[in-house]
Amino acid sequence: MLPDDSVPRLELFLLASATLEPAGYGFLETPIFEDTELFARGVGESTDIVQKEMFTFEDMGGRSLTLRPEGTAPICRAYVEHGMHKRPQPIRLWYWGPFFRHEAPQAGRYRQFSQVGAEVLGSDDPAVDAEIIALLADILEEADARALRLRLSSLGTAETRREYSEELTGFLRSRADELAPDVQARIEANPLRAFDSSDAGTHAVMKEAPTLLDRLTAEDAEHFAEVRGLLDAAGIEYEIDPALVRGLDYYTRTVFEFTSDALGAQSGVGGGGRYDALVEQLGGPPTPAIGWAAGVERILLAAGGAPDVERTVEVFVAVPKDERRRTGFRVWKRLRGEHSTLMGEPGRSMKGQMKQADRVGARWTVIVEDDGFELKDMESGEQRPVASEDELVKALAQ
Ligand code: HAM
Repeated sequence: MLPDDSVPRLELFLLASATLEPAGYGFLETPIFEDTELFARGVGESTDIVQKEMFTFEDMGGRSLTLRPEGTAPICRAYVEHGMHKRPQPIRLWYWGPFFRHEAPQAGRYRQFSQVGAEVLGSDDPAVDAEIIALLADILEEADARALRLRLSSLGTAETRREYSEELTGFLRSRADELAPDVQARIEANPLRAFDSSDAGTHAVMKEAPTLLDRLTAEDAEHFAEVRGLLDAAGIEYEIDPALVRGLDYYTRTVFEFTSDALGAQSGVGGGGRYDALVEQLGGPPTPAIGWAAGVERILLAAGGAPDVERTVEVFVAVPKDERRRTGFRVWKRLRGEHSTLMGEPGRSMKGQMKQADRVGARWTVIVEDDGFELKDMESGEQRPVASEDELVKALAQ
């Protein structure tokens, strides 16, 4: 990440902050690495992330540590460890930072990438589902991410999912010879992932597969209907996708994903869902929760690359090498608060400094003289004397 690319990133950070903070979300940071066990238990042993994508190492004390591949399990750990479950619920949190997955790098897929994420812990109210989806929709829209689609589904409770998994396993076994070899190999461990396959034969079989949406309990179906009703009421468009399978095991009930048709194969811009059993599974009290994470690089790619923001220099202070450099430094310090101000290097000739002022596109150049200043309008080329610092401040304020 070099300075040329940093402006849109910083703007996205400010946009996320300006969207989430007023909605009651508090920013938190969790460590870059955690006990491997946290991810193995939290994300799920059968997931791609745990099976082959984690950067795991031993520390000097022989403990197994892992660079965080995602942020939800660490947040659940922090929620319990720091007694957030004892405060008034729900707790609203957001985060931003680097994450690590050992995947084959390609456009939009990196081994170190950044996520912005939000989580609400301690409520199972469908209004929270709709709220958090609406906030991500707002951020993506404000960031100018193009050709967005929101896919939505419900996975039911862990128990419904278990029963459905058994039914689906039976179905997949009965059609095993029509499935791709990697799907066949995973029938027992993670039958739901068969919906994710890009293999044509598997795809055809999955069109006839029973869907989880048809197996939801009345309570879960009602919860999902309420989430949809709230999104409808707010005019947020979505598609119901019964085959929406997220790559992490902790999801229950609502799941969603924003994709951008402007991206290539890696079209997932951001996604998430409920994880009503995860906090308890990690040793905390039963705590329903929901959240999402979005890829910073993918949002910027979907926004069509760098907008034409340039670092602009308003005032350039040209300083001679003698004692006037102190005056120049004082002027630079004083102007900085109001204008983006760059100071020339006193070691350089005046001619060199004027060239530099030109190169950085300064609007004004202040030349420090023995008895005052010269103020040069870099657009018209006109130059006029200014007697004092106060006058200089005034002249530049106009
Ligand atoms: P995820 O879908 O695995 O969910 O990742 C979220 C987003 O991170 C993706 O939509 C994508 O934009 C970005 N991303 C993932 N892997 C890469 C990569 N290798 N290179 C670039 N970008 C990537 C989670 O991580 C869950 N923790 C989300 C969540 C929060 N669920 C509930 N709360």
